[in-house]
Amino acid sequence: MGKEELMRKLEERIRNCQKCPLGRLRTNAVPGSGSYDAKVMFIGEAPGYWEDQKGLPFVGRAGKVLDELLAEIGLTREEVYITNIVKCRPPENRDPLEDEIKACSPYLDRQIDIIRPRVIVPLGRHSMRYILEKFGFEPEPISKIHGKTFEAHTLFGKIIIMPMYHPAAALYRPPIKEELRKDFLRLGELIGSSL
Ligand code: SF4
Ligand code: URA
Repeated sequence: MGKEELMRKLEERIRNCQKCPLGRLRTNAVPGSGSYDAKVMFIGEAPGYWEDQKGLPFVGRAGKVLDELLAEIGLTREEVYITNIVKCRPPENRDPLEDEIKACSPYLDRQIDIIRPRVIVPLGRHSMRYILEKFGFEPEPISKIHGKTFEAHTLFGKIIIMPMYHPAAALYRPPIKEELRKDFLRLGELIGSSL
């Protein structure tokens, strides 16, 4: 089976999933969007109101910030892959619970295995923690490690992990937005130099 078919089947399973209580509360599950051949994968936290309404990741206010930052380094949504650790919206946009992450993260693991990205960008501390632990690194405060790179070795080659602040954290905080912008520029350089 090719990537396309594997991903479509997986997305279908996610859309019908009831493995955790969030399944009953959602309007739409949000499997992810973008290219199945993406070199760069962005991983947020969980869908919010608009994502749940539309079934697509980062289509609300945080998504506007993400679009702007992508455009600044010449990337489009179509050439990257964007998803979340948890695929259904937690009530009142609360943080995902440990059990929800545990139930849902095998889908993310599978997406990484199928897409085989060269760079993973976890957005925000939940995603940072999950991804760093998955690849055997110690999580640290996001304020300390955003923009740093971690090199992980997988069965399909080297992956670079570059955690960043969550775009929603930048919405009303210009200094965070500036940090995020600088990290995106570093990401742009990394992609330009090594991919
Ligand atoms: Fe399934 Fe994940 Fe949705 Fe829970 S959040 S129902 S595990 S897709
Ligand atoms: N915040 C996230 O973490 N993910 C989304 O898809 C939207 C907002």
